[in-house]
Amino acid sequence: MTFTFKKATIAIAASCSLLLSACGSGGEQQSGSEDKKVLNVGTEATFAPFEFMDKGEVSGFDVDLLNAAAEEAGYEVDIKNTGWDAMLAGLQSDQLDIGMSGVTITDERKETYDFSSPYFESVSMIVFKEGTNITKAEDLKGKKIGVQNGTTGQIAAEAIVGKNDSSISKYEAAALTFQALQSGDVEAVVTDIAVALEYVKNNPDAGVKTVSDEQFTPEYYGIVFSKGSELKAEFDEALNTLYENGTYTEIYKKWFDEEPNLDVLKEAAVQ
Ligand code: ARG
Repeated sequence: MTFTFKKATIAIAASCSLLLSACGSGGEQQSGSEDKKVLNVGTEATFAPFEFMDKGEVSGFDVDLLNAAAEEAGYEVDIKNTGWDAMLAGLQSDQLDIGMSGVTITDERKETYDFSSPYFESVSMIVFKEGTNITKAEDLKGKKIGVQNGTTGQIAAEAIVGKNDSSISKYEAAALTFQALQSGDVEAVVTDIAVALEYVKNNPDAGVKTVSDEQFTPEYYGIVFSKGSELKAEFDEALNTLYENGTYTEIYKKWFDEEPNLDVLKEAAVQ
């Protein structure tokens, strides 16, 4: 009698623990994603609205887009504010899988890195202090100019005042160019249009203005990979899905309050 009772207790205990463990793993939604590969991503997060620090987290259009693309491709991403130079170095040494930082696809960079298909159209823009006489790109001549080092803003400025001209100050982060403008160290900044407009919007009392110029030609952002990375094909496919299923449009509208022009990106992709 005692023996049977004991047996039954053990049997119940055993099935309970089976049940419990079944409950445990079923309840943990994350357990499936734990075997997803985590990709290490670098960025320079002073480039709002694409990437900026918000309450200790990297936030922005690029972050939302990369998260959506990674989910589509079956990866998790760990996005770190490495800074620009460390991002590029990390990709070259394969310490990083991805660079997501409003990086313009250029022929020169394509020699060292692989890029996804284009995900954003941009162009350079000049930001200057009110009272400085700048109405067109040529007016940059003779002015103190700030750019982020190694960016297309630097290339655009150099196209006007000459390569390595001493009037150009190069800063390692995008935000430092705006600080230099505020402190009067430079009179004009050349940066990407959406970043220029976001800065003006967020700093209504800064007394700054913007000017565009047709001399500045359209450029396109791509997700950056180490040369030869298998991720390129997977993320191109994921981006395509996001273009087709409306997710890209949703993210774009969240950050830019307008409809994206997907045709422009598709055209740029076949160039
Ligand atoms: N689009 C420009 C380039 O590729 C500027 C990018 C700067 N990005 C940043 N997160 N600071 O050169």
